[in-house]
Amino acid sequence: MEAFFEPYKIKMVEPIRLSTQNERQAILRRAYFNPFAIRSRDVVIDLLTDSGTGAMSKYQWAEMMKGDEAYAGSESFDVFLEVIQDITGYKHVIPTHQGRAAEKLLFGLLGGKGKVIPSNGHFDTTRANIEVSGAEAVDLMIPEALKPEVIHPFKGNINVNALKQLIESVGPDNIPLAMITVTNNVGGGQPVSIENIRATKDVLSKHKIPLIIDACRFAENAYFNKARNLSFENNTPYEIAKEMFSIADGCTFSAKKDGLANIGGFLAFNQDEWLHSINEMLILTEGYVTYGGLAGRDLAAVAQGLKEVLQEDYLKYRIASTAYLANGIHAQGAPVVQPPGGHAVYIDAKALLPHIPSEAFPGQALVCALYEYGGIRAVEVGSLMFGKQDAKGHFVPPPLELVRLAIPRRVYTHLHFDYVIEVVGKVVKEKDRLRGFKITYETPSMRHFTAKLVEI
Ligand code: F0G
Repeated sequence: MEAFFEPYKIKMVEPIRLSTQNERQAILRRAYFNPFAIRSRDVVIDLLTDSGTGAMSKYQWAEMMKGDEAYAGSESFDVFLEVIQDITGYKHVIPTHQGRAAEKLLFGLLGGKGKVIPSNGHFDTTRANIEVSGAEAVDLMIPEALKPEVIHPFKGNINVNALKQLIESVGPDNIPLAMITVTNNVGGGQPVSIENIRATKDVLSKHKIPLIIDACRFAENAYFNKARNLSFENNTPYEIAKEMFSIADGCTFSAKKDGLANIGGFLAFNQDEWLHSINEMLILTEGYVTYGGLAGRDLAAVAQGLKEVLQEDYLKYRIASTAYLANGIHAQGAPVVQPPGGHAVYIDAKALLPHIPSEAFPGQALVCALYEYGGIRAVEVGSLMFGKQDAKGHFVPPPLELVRLAIPRRVYTHLHFDYVIEVVGKVVKEKDRLRGFKITYETPSMRHFTAKLVEI
């Protein structure tokens, strides 16, 4: 492998507090074996999420000082708007405090009982916002996406044939929009090819169904198209991103990911007929149309972040460093989703812990072991997050039991990754001793955030 290094220097540091395994055992018990309930000061390496956890550049901090905090007509909004319209080409840009607020506005308008909203893979907040509106969220992954060990360059692609069948079976009038998530977070941070987005749009256009991109990790997806798609090897990530947005009708965006900001998001679209209702709801729940739920300085940080995230040096390093961590973990005997994705490494917990059945949450067992052995905080993306009961009360597991180690942007170095790899090695040695869990408390929606568990 070609030598590579972090393309930045560190100007400000945040000390990491070290803890002992004994301490962490007690902390885990107090958190009811749910890492969301652990304080960040008790975490050694925090890989819970890549959302809002990145380090901003000196240019972003400088832009923040220029933030215009006017309630209406803020200059920072003009800058925000200009950058987003330049990259996406969409006519209307609605600022929101984060991605899920954009989802709420979109599905509040277009969702509702009897509606079906397909995607390559809805993220959990997207799915929950669709379901709260009364609509049904359907994931149409390609078959390769359900086999963690199978290599495919664009495993995040939507299954276009399944989409055609769905339109035929439920009728186009019941599908108010379709979504494509780039990269597909719930399917392993896997990219979607530009050709797949185009083929999807062709199918939808015949029925006048709009295509909305969940663009949280659009820059990483653009880089994968450059690296793995011969048609784009000579294009810049900026050009590829523009091409992608031009195919669709709009997007939802969480600036906490590829906005390189700690907060922020937006909804953007071309449809004039959506604007009135969405603005009305925006003002009711988020704020006035030129700030959404954000401070002027946040808008400024996002605008600058969107320029930096498309820099090729940064993206090359980002994708290579994720692969470095993934390959290191795999070499320790923990099977990971292949090929490595953009923002995270996904360990196949079902393959690693075959003695723990889905209903006993093998992913959560691994999450807890990573914390206990090394203070590493990860998140389960499996039965705890997506498992359901059917009408007869039988447990229905999702197709994959994964554990996600998400990598905050520009925060950790290779030495931190080497430590994570070493801890995974220790857990693998002890894997037969890991036990499953039982839920003692849960909420009806998105239970993984608040669930309380006990070891079986
Ligand atoms: N869509 C995708 C694909 C996401 O990954 C997320 C958030 C959202 C929408 C919602 O955005 O958090 O700004 O409201 N993902 C985070 C994660 C939370 O950890 O993957 P948000």
